[in-house]
Amino acid sequence: MTAAEAQEKIAALRAAVARHDELYYRRAQPELSDYDYDRLKRELADLEAAWPRYAAGESPTDAVGDDRTEGFATYRHRQPMQSLDNTYSEAELREFHARLVKLLERDDLGYVIEPKIDGLAVSLTFEQGRLVRAVTRGNGVEGDDVTENIRTIKSLPDRLKPAAGAPIPDAVEIRGEVFMTLEEFARINQEREEAGEPRYANPRNLAAGTLKLLDRAEVAARRLEIVLYGLGYAEPAEPLGDTQSGFHALVRQWALPTVEKFWTARGIDEVWAAVQELDRMRHAFSYATDGAVVKLDPFRLQREAGSTSKAPRWAMAYKFPAVRAETQLKAITIQVGRTGVLTPVAELEPVQLAGTTVSRATLHNRDEIRRKDIRVGDFVAVEKAGEIIPAVIAVNLTKRTPHCVPYEFPTACPVCGTPVVQLEGEVALRCPNYECPVQVRRRVQHFASKGCVDIDGLGVAMVDTLVDKGWVRSLADIYRLKREDLLTLGKSVEKSTDKLLAAIETSKRAELWRVIHGLGITHVGAAAAKDLAKHFGGLETLMNARYDDFIGEKKTSRINGIGETMALALIAHFNRPENRALIGELTELGVKPVAPAKAAPTGTSFAGKIFVLTGTLPTMTRDEAGAKIEAAGGKVSGSVSKKTSYVLAGAEAGSKLDKAQALGVPVIDEAEFLRMLAEG
Ligand code: IVH
Repeated sequence: MTAAEAQEKIAALRAAVARHDELYYRRAQPELSDYDYDRLKRELADLEAAWPRYAAGESPTDAVGDDRTEGFATYRHRQPMQSLDNTYSEAELREFHARLVKLLERDDLGYVIEPKIDGLAVSLTFEQGRLVRAVTRGNGVEGDDVTENIRTIKSLPDRLKPAAGAPIPDAVEIRGEVFMTLEEFARINQEREEAGEPRYANPRNLAAGTLKLLDRAEVAARRLEIVLYGLGYAEPAEPLGDTQSGFHALVRQWALPTVEKFWTARGIDEVWAAVQELDRMRHAFSYATDGAVVKLDPFRLQREAGSTSKAPRWAMAYKFPAVRAETQLKAITIQVGRTGVLTPVAELEPVQLAGTTVSRATLHNRDEIRRKDIRVGDFVAVEKAGEIIPAVIAVNLTKRTPHCVPYEFPTACPVCGTPVVQLEGEVALRCPNYECPVQVRRRVQHFASKGCVDIDGLGVAMVDTLVDKGWVRSLADIYRLKREDLLTLGKSVEKSTDKLLAAIETSKRAELWRVIHGLGITHVGAAAAKDLAKHFGGLETLMNARYDDFIGEKKTSRINGIGETMALALIAHFNRPENRALIGELTELGVKPVAPAKAAPTGTSFAGKIFVLTGTLPTMTRDEAGAKIEAAGGKVSGSVSKKTSYVLAGAEAGSKLDKAQALGVPVIDEAEFLRMLAEG
């Protein structure tokens, strides 16, 4: 390579890495697999090392990426959040150990091996044991303040649990990874599929995108999780143990979520054995794991080894190569979803991938095919993204033959021939024909499915038949089916017909949320349907709800679990005359969904009140009383302070009673408590 070529190449690689950093960290929409990204970055770093004279100025190899986005306050980390060096090779992992042996002048080094969780890094600050702040890594120096969103994580306590031998420091920063479980990821994608929306590509990007949503209700509707794996700043610094393995024990005592498993090892052979064991076990973990993180165990040695400007010298990530295979693309077929979205699917020459045979993979959408220039007949790399759905990653151009011509995405619906449209702000192309047979079929299938009104006997095949016969063109037609028509479907179908008609009859009294879910409104899955049912209590009121009924000042949601995106989708749905008409028809046909019992009004005298329980109550245990308080919207606390609303005292109440009297906190007995409960 000539000097000029090197200079040019460095500039080009810098631009490419910067672009992919932006896509990954800020937009959570990477175009490259992790492996290809790491390779690109490595190529740049190697060139910069070989041609230092062209490596001046800012390089993305020095930075840790930048996840800061609009809409969040930024916060400066008290100690920078560094990145990790990573490798895909065993030899380089061994070199890492050899470097430390040399640097620290000893060869009995102890390590901790942890799963590398594929999520995004955050730093939590606890003051006096309370969670006061959560900040993303950002550019390593300052990040986005995502405290409110982090508080939606159910497994993360708001307070550290005091434990014997683990005193809580005045202030402590604990670092970890926010992620989404594979189960939750699958649940959301299932809901998206049911709602006719394209699937998300992988859990890491969905977790990153979710943490950066501005609507807290929407964040809470998708369950995020966290594990904590590192110590940042602490004050006072002393009693926080002296090893990484001790750190794990400590945070567990404080009741914080930690890694599912970690290993300790002495010397690199034991490290390598642990890494391989982790590789075998990781598929059983609830989260996607893309590697192992190897850390020196003693904090003293970590300090001695120190850090470079971007990463510690005492830690190394070993990344497991993605499960990938090459195969030929036989055809591209188009699936039409319930809401008319056209999804291209790769029909592949069957190939073995991580223990399963893959013959189909998603191609996401038209833009994706264009960007990767995927052509029928090509040899393509297939990868399991987030270890779940196979996707076509790239084309092997060296094997392309002249017969492979660029793919022309259909401009008309492959089912009904209606020209497709692209809605503003969407990548997806849709068939706009509401009566398109596929859409009708999918709508009816969805409505009748187990997760919705659950009509036994109205499965996929039966729906196909009814739609083909022209008897069912809308959901209302289910309730117009005639016995004599159904009896023509075959010999001796009397019994099954009567069963089906009975099931249809029963579905008229399905729970309201099931019907709402069954309507197939974009973005409205089962969880949202439940929230809507609880709030509106009927189809009519839901249909007539306006923007202000959903969203209050400063775009806050008025209804638990329903954010602006969903509100807009509901309004758009019920703006369509055919959707409004359907509600009327269903009612006329006798569909009367059962509304949930009204939830306890939040304005009771218990809402926001803090109770402290002490002594023995005459007719109930303290736990029972606590449950009643919580059910009525109150809180139970363990100690009396000025903030305590009531002390509920029974026989032999001790020091808590004295303290209440000293502070002037009202003290009540069980009888009074029961009276308050009854009055609500
Ligand atoms: S320690 C200074 N431990 O991987 C070292 N990081 O590729 C800080 N990660 O930025 C990181 N699992 O977001 C550490 N067990 C683990 C991890 C982990 C995932 C993430 C973290 C880090 C990135 C580096």
